Amino acid sequence: MEGALVRKATAEDRKEVLSFCVGTFDWGDYIDEVYDFWLGAPDSLFLVAETAGKPVGIVHARQMRHGVAWLEGLRVSPAHRREGVGTALTAKAMEMLSEGGIKTLRLLVESNNEASMALAFGLGFREEATWAFYHGRKPREMPSHGPHWVTPASASNVWSRLDSSDLFNQACRSYENDWAIYPLESDDFSELVKGRMVATMGEGKEAALAVVHYGRTEGRDAKACFLLGDRPAVKELAAFVISKAARSGARRLHVSCPNHAGTTEGLKASGFRPGFRTSLVYRRNL
Ligand SMILES: CC(C)(COP(=O)(O)OP(=O)(O)OC[C@H]1O[C@@H](n2cnc3c(N)ncnc32)[C@H](O)[C@@H]1OP(=O)(O)O)[C@@H](O)C(=O)NCCC(=O)NCCS
Repeated sequence: MEGALVRKATAEDRKEVLSFCVGTFDWGDYIDEVYDFWLGAPDSLFLVAETAGKPVGIVHARQMRHGVAWLEGLRVSPAHRREGVGTALTAKAMEMLSEGGIKTLRLLVESNNEASMALAFGLGFREEATWAFYHGRKPREMPSHGPHWVTPASASNVWSRLDSSDLFNQACRSYENDWAIYPLESDDFSELVKGRMVATMGEGKEAALAVVHYGRTEGRDAKACFLLGDRPAVKELAAFVISKAARSGARRLHVSCPNHAGTTEGLKASGFRPGFRTSLVYRRNL
């Protein structure tokens, strides 16, 4: 659209924005739950496109470590689609993030979202990895044999294993939390280990590994991202994670993993139902 103005979102835009962020997907939408958080969160870039003084589109970016940012929540009012608003929002976010020192930008697209894939492709994004998400399940106590938390003493060995794994390198050297793919380098790994958030099972090629967030601070559901492992080790590790989630008082446990057959088989064998369609991670260097 000629002349769509892209600017930072404000609290005053809320009502108008939420009026076009309803029932966006077959499962609904989540913008109403995050709007206020996105306005105030540190490292957050929340933009609105307006035309004739009225908001008609939004996009949000999380600025992460290592010069990486995550783009999410792109929405254009159905009355203003195909007018270039989505492109203008994304292009402005790219420009502002680049000025702020961001070098790599990623986003997630469901494999049936033709419009979003075409938009991203047109702006130079390319598919980097495929991720699998599962419906959350109620955690409960389950027996497991062998899994344990990675400790600071064993962290560097475990990191070497992850660092050199083909699966990890093909899956953007990242982990998922709260619907975003975060870069995972050795300093991030050490911090997660210190926070008792990395669980592992087995050795060498037989090993499984998961990054776990119990939502202790946010009061949210528990999340676990399985980064390594084939069916038997993942199944055993999942039992450990499910039990720990139950003990932490989480109401539900959500899991995801890079779309690798061994890992997805292990999660399905642990009772997780595949959710949504295949999710594609797109990447663009800025
Ligand atoms: C995806 C979405 C943001 C696109 O916004 P938009 O303002 O209509 O997009 P643009 O007008 O900038 O379109 C840019 C290009 O994307 C592609 N595109 C956009 N909509 C399309 C559609 N419905 N079908 C196929 N291609 C489409 C086209 O290549 C288009 O260029 P063109 O119009 O010159 O052919 C909008 O459809 C939307 O809000 N969808 C629902 C929410 C959503 O899916 N968000 C993305 C989540 S990852």
